[in-house]
Amino acid sequence: MPLVSMRQLLDEAAKGGYGVGAFNVNDMEQIQAIMAAAKETNSPVIIQASRGARSFAQDRFLFHLILAANELYPEIPIAMHQDHGNSFETCKSAIDLGYTSVMMDGSLKEDGKTPASFEENVAVTKRVVDFAHERGVTVEGEIGVLGGVEDGHGAGGTGLEHVTDPDQAVEFAELTGVDALAIAIGTSHGAYKFSKKPDGSVLKMDVLIAIHKRLPNTHLVMHGSSSVPKDLQDVINKYGGKLKETWGVPVEEIQLGIRNGVRKVNVDTDNRLAMTGAIRKVLWESPEKFDPRDYLKPAREAMQKVVATRMTQFGQAGHAGDYKAVSITEIAKGYKDGSLKTKPLVAK
Ligand code: G3H
Ligand code: 13P
Ligand code: ZN
Repeated sequence: MPLVSMRQLLDEAAKGGYGVGAFNVNDMEQIQAIMAAAKETNSPVIIQASRGARSFAQDRFLFHLILAANELYPEIPIAMHQDHGNSFETCKSAIDLGYTSVMMDGSLKEDGKTPASFEENVAVTKRVVDFAHERGVTVEGEIGVLGGVEDGHGAGGTGLEHVTDPDQAVEFAELTGVDALAIAIGTSHGAYKFSKKPDGSVLKMDVLIAIHKRLPNTHLVMHGSSSVPKDLQDVINKYGGKLKETWGVPVEEIQLGIRNGVRKVNVDTDNRLAMTGAIRKVLWESPEKFDPRDYLKPAREAMQKVVATRMTQFGQAGHAGDYKAVSITEIAKGYKDGSLKTKPLVAK
């Protein structure tokens, strides 16, 4: 089947009442790990690349590796998504390349660091929506600002500084017509999200629920959703790593989100931890080894295990065969004739 529009994939998830993990990739092993997990659990998938990933792997390498996944696993719906696009040009370049979905993260200015005004965010996001929808490509927007910094991207801070205002979320969704909306509820990118198991004072699930009540038909996106499990931290530290004590987003909170409109769950850090732990273990235990396959294979297996677990926990497992991908040319017609109308239904 062709690559799937993320809109179709999320509409199906909403119908089925489940969430879909969006996993970041930078190289072949990570793509293979995700596809092996998708096959193992019979799951649809979102494979996403940040700007950093596109430049690290080189656009064409990464794009063709994802196409290879699509060729090798024709039974698995795959959406190819640009994560945290910082400008119209970044999103356009992904669309021109063949991505079926883009995130325009207009919550930050183009530098990827400075919070943008509401008006700036609406203007750039709407511009991307107009361009993308004409081509059948899905758009995720963001309102509110996450904490943390990844690869130079992010406002820094704790994640509580710019929690999404539900009224602004409604206005933003109406003005832009985005297909999916990322919100800030206290999470951050990276491993250091919380200094203890998070409660409602730092992880604002009440805000998410309030937004879902107002926007019951908008697909919500949780960024910074790694759970940073203790066992993965322990492997790294056991084999010479130096991670400080930290907590991520508990899976049961993500599941609460999924019961309240979350359809896309972004996970990167957990996979980074799993791969790094597996590599450290091999090199620590067998310092004589130097064939990259000796550590990349266990790293790939460790990531597959994390991804398969999340796919089961998010509920996407078992749903790969529920539908066939509609081509993005057909999807474009839907945006044009209004059948994929993205003006949200707002509950009063
Ligand atoms: O947005 C955060 C993702 O974990 C991607 O991170 O920008 O370091 O590739 P990155
Ligand atoms: P984590 O750092 O929690 O894995 O978040 C990833 C993310 O939000 C990618 O956009
Ligand atoms: Zn993110």
